Amino acid sequence: MTNKPLAALLFGCMITAQAASAQSLLPKPQSFNAGKGAFSTATTKVKLINEVGADAENIYSKQWSAKADNNAQQVVRFTRLANATSPEAYNLHITKDTLLISAASADGFRFAWQTVEQLKQKNGIMACDVQDAPAFKWRSLMLDVSRHFQPISFLKKQIDVMAQYKFNRLHLHLTDAAGWRIEIKRYPRLTSLAAWREGKTWKEWSKLGCKYKNEGEEGAYGGYYTQDELRDLVKYAAERGITIVPEIEMPGHSAEVLTAYPELSCTHEPYKQMDFCPGSVATYDFLENVLKEVMDIFPSKYIHVGGDEADKASWPSCPLCQQKMKELGTDKDGLQAHLIAHFGKFLTDHGRQLVGWDEVIAGNLAKNTTVMVWRGLEKAQEAIDHGYDVVLSPSGYWYLDYYQDAPDTQPEAIGGFLPLEKVYSYVPGGTLPEDVRSKITGVQANLWTEYVPTAEHVEYMLYPRALAIAEIGWNGTKTKNYPEFRKRAIVECERLHKQGVNTFDLKKERGERPESFKTTKHKAIGCNITFNHRYEDKYKAQGDKTLVDGQHGGWTYGDQKWQGFLGNKGYCLDLTIDLGKVQKISTVAADFMQAYGAWVFFPSEYKISFSEDGQNFKEVYNKKSEVDRDIQLGFRNLAWKGNAKTRYIRVQGSTTEDGGWLFTDEIIVK
Ligand code: ACM
Ligand code: ZN
Repeated sequence: MTNKPLAALLFGCMITAQAASAQSLLPKPQSFNAGKGAFSTATTKVKLINEVGADAENIYSKQWSAKADNNAQQVVRFTRLANATSPEAYNLHITKDTLLISAASADGFRFAWQTVEQLKQKNGIMACDVQDAPAFKWRSLMLDVSRHFQPISFLKKQIDVMAQYKFNRLHLHLTDAAGWRIEIKRYPRLTSLAAWREGKTWKEWSKLGCKYKNEGEEGAYGGYYTQDELRDLVKYAAERGITIVPEIEMPGHSAEVLTAYPELSCTHEPYKQMDFCPGSVATYDFLENVLKEVMDIFPSKYIHVGGDEADKASWPSCPLCQQKMKELGTDKDGLQAHLIAHFGKFLTDHGRQLVGWDEVIAGNLAKNTTVMVWRGLEKAQEAIDHGYDVVLSPSGYWYLDYYQDAPDTQPEAIGGFLPLEKVYSYVPGGTLPEDVRSKITGVQANLWTEYVPTAEHVEYMLYPRALAIAEIGWNGTKTKNYPEFRKRAIVECERLHKQGVNTFDLKKERGERPESFKTTKHKAIGCNITFNHRYEDKYKAQGDKTLVDGQHGGWTYGDQKWQGFLGNKGYCLDLTIDLGKVQKISTVAADFMQAYGAWVFFPSEYKISFSEDGQNFKEVYNKKSEVDRDIQLGFRNLAWKGNAKTRYIRVQGSTTEDGGWLFTDEIIVK
């Protein structure tokens, strides 16, 4: 009897100790069992056994060869991992006297060593057994070096950090309207003009009319990587288990190219077009020549050709595009599909594989295509149905340019609200059937940098949120536990700080908009609303009664609590609430949001009218205000206060900005 609680106590201690040990690892390994003690690193002599030759060479010579002694007690041994489920798989067996690393490949040894680094403690490397392999074969970060250029030294620093967390791809968004960043010897104007702009930041450049400047000209901001620098970077990354995937955008997001080489657009006018002319032979020649140089620099099997957000505006009226569409019997979307398929085949013919954003999905692509899904799971399903590989980078969860904490505590961001917990909450493939989900090959976080001008700021946006993608990419999602992950992320932030990385301070996190946690009781709760102009389905939130459900929105209009209104020449927000009977009221109040980057505005005009019979309305409130473009993200409460008797309340709002949105979360009637 007395033994029982003691056994339970001991067992409890063991569990706690084990949990504490595993806490030092991020990403969490597939299997971890704590041992006793540690393999001392203070020792000066070890017996070295390398059964895998060059695969372990890096670790062998860098860490151990100076200590090699055949008579030593402690053994460091590298062996081949048999029957590995992945080339990146590895096992560790660590005791007081043995450090045994087995892996399937050089990358496996590299990632094994990253785990060993995280197991280091005061008295040596923690004794344990680890069996580990990645859940996804593509674990990636995308850095947008077009909107703001960052030097090679900075990219190397990020590669070091990424390797620590077992990422294996760095996707570089090398070209976009804000600047071309890769030397192409055949087309020098890409780097003598298209890499330089007026306006140090993307925002200034935008405000100044998106102009380019010649290299060396006064006020020319930007930069580019030479081919030699990129080759060196590729090598540096490969030595750390990371493949660099270059992205060359086509046919959209290409204003910089089309100003340097206007003959590649439909109208041949600089500063006018965003999209290549897919009806012109010159476009195909140019892009093939660019891709040949790209392939010469980047050995990556995967070459990204963008494909997103082409607006195709110039194509329907371009004679060459018209001719091509006629020849192919297609429309402008088919023309884009034709261009992408052409480059898919071109890359395949050169032994490479096309990667593109999910706009590239069409039935005529090479089967080896990888689709990067950013818009929705239906796109993943579509791509898988076609037999393509799928890498998920969902904008609502893994776009790290969104605010990671209360916006008033953060540097200006593009909008949204994406705290660590939300990044971590994403389950790749979520609601898709298991047989579809199991075909998803990768995960990727994207850091677009329109609002991220400096190197420090890039790091701040990346970490710790990128660690959540590292964890999901490596460990999967079967044993997710956010509070436990958050603790490990805090430890890693401290480690990163010591390495000179500027992370967001997770310990000071404030979180979601306080209003979003409260429920407000008021006179209009559950009342019928007639929409004289309906909300947009994409932002319908909870539907017809969203604005009278007592719930308030959070920091982002995309949280399904804010309702979004668009278009309509007059009032895009125009609705009538029926209180059910005439009654006395003293307040009609509503919150509005402005998210300038997303073209969401406070109302330029907002008015409230009352009626007892639903026919004859009397205006009681009318507020007009100019659009303030300096408010990147803001919240405004507009309220009528007084004493009145009414049954019907009509609320109308408009914006003077063409194509602008209005978002409101609750219309409170008291
Ligand atoms: C994208 O966000 N346009 C891929
Ligand atoms: Zn054209």
